[in-house]
Amino acid sequence: EKGGFETFMEKEIHDQPQAVADTLLGRTDAAGQLILDELRIEPEELMAVNKIIVLACGTSAYAGMVAKYAIEHWCRIPVEVELSHEFRYRDPIIDPTTLVVSISQSGETMDTLMAVRYAKEQGARTVAICNTNGSTIPRESDAVLYTHAGPEIAVASTKAFLAQITAAYLLGLYLAQLNKKLFSGQIKDILADLAAIPKKIEDILERKQQIKDLARSMKDDTSVLFLGRNVGYPVAMEGALKLKELAYIHAEGFAAGELKHGPIALIDEGQPVFVVMPSPMDRHSLHAKVVSNIQEVRARGARTFVVAERGDTAVEAYAENVFEVPETQPMLMPLLTTVPLQIFALELSSAKGYDVDQPRNLAKSVTVE
Ligand code: F6R
Repeated sequence: EKGGFETFMEKEIHDQPQAVADTLLGRTDAAGQLILDELRIEPEELMAVNKIIVLACGTSAYAGMVAKYAIEHWCRIPVEVELSHEFRYRDPIIDPTTLVVSISQSGETMDTLMAVRYAKEQGARTVAICNTNGSTIPRESDAVLYTHAGPEIAVASTKAFLAQITAAYLLGLYLAQLNKKLFSGQIKDILADLAAIPKKIEDILERKQQIKDLARSMKDDTSVLFLGRNVGYPVAMEGALKLKELAYIHAEGFAAGELKHGPIALIDEGQPVFVVMPSPMDRHSLHAKVVSNIQEVRARGARTFVVAERGDTAVEAYAENVFEVPETQPMLMPLLTTVPLQIFALELSSAKGYDVDQPRNLAKSVTVE
């Protein structure tokens, strides 16, 4: 059942083109309009939403952060993202115009379930983005948007993450469609770019040997830092989490802009730093700022490994090692830039001789608070 791969995690990384495609499947009509009937919340009610709170833990919370960037940009609705276990215990401000979106692969995470229950008691409408049919969180929510990643067996989440991001984009586009915040042509363009993502993930998977060789060469490193900005920031944190979970080494993800506010003190000779480059087309011109970050850390002796869009020649001059991902629009980049980081963690873990599918101290679903 590992489909010819040695581990479930490797298989699941290779399932990702399908996971994204299946999550998109059947959610548009012939005219290219999004149809999310399954949401079971009246359009009028969704149109009255004036705040969204995303609740999740771990990797799913990083999908939530990507959702925040996309939904705020496309829909102009404020989005907060909060770890479920923090949200529940701080007297959050919720009313019936608050839409609470939980994200959970298993649908059984106790922290998230408790947070959703609490939000319901406070009068919020609740939508679950979930990968497990009929699990507790979607059952207790007003509505559900299933991710169709298929069962995820490896403890570390991979394909569910990409499917969650895809579903969150669909939710954002649907709200933008209802509220007429984007023209239908714009929505169609974004959907077409989403539909092109699975092939682009395949393109990355075909070139995985470059990342594998890199990981093998780094098996004695004891700390790895990850930098990203905008939608690349949650990707950096996800890259770090995968490494902690699987390779048991110290890893941290930072917002690249935060570097000079402290973390740059960590950089010394030989420190490995992964950089998730923003698209050269990013509307805020973040690209040049992150190129400067690469120069800053290199000047202090860091070894830099950069995930950048194909054709991004500006980074080549600065980075020690560049891994290319195909082009897409800036907002959709996490669906591509995450993949090399997953492969890196998988390979480093197996180079160290660890059990990739069953990392120590972890369980697939955390059903205690
Ligand atoms: C990371 C990982 C965990 C889960 C988290 C939430 O690889 O697997 O961080 O993402 O425990 O789990 P779900 O999504 O099932 O609520």
